[in-house]
Amino acid sequence: MKTQINTQDIIIRLEQERDYRAVEELTREAFWNVYTPGCSEHYLAHIMRSHRDFLPELTFVAEYRGKIAASIMYMKSWLEDDDGNRREILSFGPISVHPDYQRMGLGKRIMAHSFAEAKKLGYDAVVIFGNPENYVSSGFKCSRRFNVSMDGNYFPVSLFVLELKPGTLDGRHYVYRESDVITLLDDEKVAEFNRSFPPKEKGWMPSQEKFYIYSHSSVNE
Ligand SMILES: CC(C)(COP(=O)(O)OP(=O)(O)OC[C@H]1O[C@@H](n2cnc3c(N)ncnc32)[C@H](O)[C@@H]1OP(=O)(O)O)[C@@H](O)C(=O)NCCC(=O)NCCS
Repeated sequence: MKTQINTQDIIIRLEQERDYRAVEELTREAFWNVYTPGCSEHYLAHIMRSHRDFLPELTFVAEYRGKIAASIMYMKSWLEDDDGNRREILSFGPISVHPDYQRMGLGKRIMAHSFAEAKKLGYDAVVIFGNPENYVSSGFKCSRRFNVSMDGNYFPVSLFVLELKPGTLDGRHYVYRESDVITLLDDEKVAEFNRSFPPKEKGWMPSQEKFYIYSHSSVNE
């Protein structure tokens, strides 16, 4: 049975080099079989840190009673208007809460902490892909509402926008451009990286179909 979290025992702090492996283990536990059989997010966490778009100043861990129970990692991304002008914004992911502590508010807490720090650093918007139920309660709205699309005026159900500075997105049409770190994901490298962790069985979960539906659907007015 899951324990309840005593919020006074949570410490949110920047990720340090000594946390890297623990964060990758946590990420693997959190994502395993959720979106695909197995997962690649722990490998993504591993390679993100040496990518030019990585933002260590916004990459946090939440310690619960001395152990890392949650993590959020940030990259630079961009919004490009129809004249080709780009503005730098933020994207996060992976965000991971250890399965023992999910659905107890830890994800919302680490997000809120990171948004407050991002504001202090002068960022004004965050754009992410994900499941609506994880993000709308933290203020994210459908990208359609802000006229933020993928290439080709496509507004996926799974694309969300949070204005850190209200009104900063002025209604103009923007295309979301994410970091090319994602192109470095390679099945063989993920499999090789996986072998450095304890064996874990790949399998199917209904959440995989749910995310397929979200990520292959769009919002049309
Ligand atoms: C997604 C994740 C980061 C959310 O963190 P969490 O600590 O579990 O979630 P929280 O308790 O902070 O709840 C966030 C919101 O999720 C929703 N939620 C909470 N419990 C829920 C439940 N049992 N069922 C459905 N939705 C629920 C709620 O909207 C909640 O906000 P609210 O309490 O204000 O209504 C975490 O579950 C996780 O690591 N999941 C596996 C990896 C993953 O999917 N990462 C995100 C990739 S897009």
